[in-house]
Amino acid sequence: MKKQFYILATALIGSFIFLSMSGLPEDLQDKWEVPAKYEKMKNPYEGVKDADNIGRILYAKHCRSCHGTKGNGDGTKAKGLETAIRDFTGAEFKKQSDGSLYYKTYVGRGEMPSFMKKIVDEEEQWMIVNYIKNL
Ligand code: HEC
Repeated sequence: MKKQFYILATALIGSFIFLSMSGLPEDLQDKWEVPAKYEKMKNPYEGVKDADNIGRILYAKHCRSCHGTKGNGDGTKAKGLETAIRDFTGAEFKKQSDGSLYYKTYVGRGEMPSFMKKIVDEEEQWMIVNYIKNL
């Protein structure tokens, strides 16, 4: 009985290690902790139609040079960066809350500039978040 238990436990632990090493998709990003306050932040413009294309225009002006037209991280400036950039159309990006995207965009870190002082209008800030979510 005891022996069977050990065999079962070893098999379970073994498959867990195997899955965590090979089963999960590769993530380009070093862990980026988002404070709970931001993670749970509500998007006041959730689902709001961007009739004036604010998101698209500001993305082209401020973000496209690194993140690329389609958000794949292949902008003209991307080659010169040392930090890998996630694809905005990929699963790792998509599973994040709007508040997390807000935090990463406006607080930034390292080679991802902070846009808190450059884009101050609340509507503009969230229209960009809405835009990158739907690239
Ligand atoms: C100078 C190049 C550069 C510009 C310009 C830039 N970014 Fe970034 N961005 C980066 C880099 C590099 C990272 C990865 C940072 C890291 O992992 O430390 C990043 C990461 C991000 C992330 C996190 C992605 C994820 O899946 O966690 C978001 C969101 C983001 N950028 C949004 C924007 C937005 C919106 C703009 C324009 C307002 C913008 N960025 C402009 C370089 C840039």
